[in-house]
Amino acid sequence: MSAKPDMVHASISLKPALDAIGKSMDQRFDRLLPVPQDSRAQLFNAMRHAVIGGGKRMRPLLVVAACDLFHVDRERALRVALAIECVHCYSLIHDDLPCMDDDDMRRGKPTVHKAYDEATAVLAGDSLHALAFEILADPATHEDPFARAELVTELAVSSGPSGMAGGQMMDLVAEHELYDLGGVTRLQQLKTGALIGFCLEAGAIMGRIPVASRTPLRGYARDLGLAFQIADDLLDVEGSSTKTGKAVGKDAAAGKATFVSLLGVERARTQAVMLIDQAIAHLHSFGPEADLLRAIARFAIERDR
Ligand code: IPE
Ligand code: IPE
Ligand code: MG
Ligand code: MG
Ligand code: MG
Repeated sequence: MSAKPDMVHASISLKPALDAIGKSMDQRFDRLLPVPQDSRAQLFNAMRHAVIGGGKRMRPLLVVAACDLFHVDRERALRVALAIECVHCYSLIHDDLPCMDDDDMRRGKPTVHKAYDEATAVLAGDSLHALAFEILADPATHEDPFARAELVTELAVSSGPSGMAGGQMMDLVAEHELYDLGGVTRLQQLKTGALIGFCLEAGAIMGRIPVASRTPLRGYARDLGLAFQIADDLLDVEGSSTKTGKAVGKDAAAGKATFVSLLGVERARTQAVMLIDQAIAHLHSFGPEADLLRAIARFAIERDR
């Protein structure tokens, strides 16, 4: 996307942080998912295929950035980061299935149902979904059981029928129904915004920040989530599959309802830039400690993958 000069600067400084969180997630998934020497080996190999190597790891970085605001122990923050990446990868495995978007390539590799088979892909998704909650419920994530319960509740709401799964249903229904701007906004907030919202909320939960003080982070997350999905929809129109690691040019053919299908490329881009400016404005009460969140917001719409 067209970038303001300060945006270019911000995305350059973000690269080391993205590389570091990528390495850390790969190492942790590798340790978490040793392949057993029994007939479940294919399931574990499929899970490893989905979670190791590739992906921007933007949600894990958001968790760490939000946790850093409240001086949360880094090891604990990384456990939450691992949990949200589990749910995200599960959502991608199922999103790619023939009964949903029917995609063959993801993160520059064959999708899980292509590399293995559909039944294995369904089970790998189910297993990653469950694993996320196992990680959050473990006392190693937070010593306070109330904090762990809040994390679990928040992730359940964000990934279920009032969150990601509900948005995915709306996305499929939209292939046959006309949605107006309000409808598409709701669809995108659920499909993509809810899990991004979890990343910020989790930082506040880990830091034991009272609900009344979470408004700026919630506002940031809402605008970022929408802008992030608009950028994804723009990449489907203007991006390259070499860079994104997935097929492009499919949304229009499938009749997907997006900001791009409703507003056109230019107005959708303007909307995304406006949302990111607004997301950053929500952080005005924070100082330089929120610079990573500001840089992630800019990256969300500048990215080419
Ligand atoms: C893709 O998410 C699916 C959407 C919600 C738009 P990402 O663009 O974060 O995918 P990865 O994790 O980098 O592969
Ligand atoms: C998927 O949205 C959002 C999810 C909840 C997985 P898309 O279908 O647009 O994501 P891509 O383009 O396949 O990554
Ligand atoms: Mg989809
Ligand atoms: Mg898809
Ligand atoms: Mg897409």
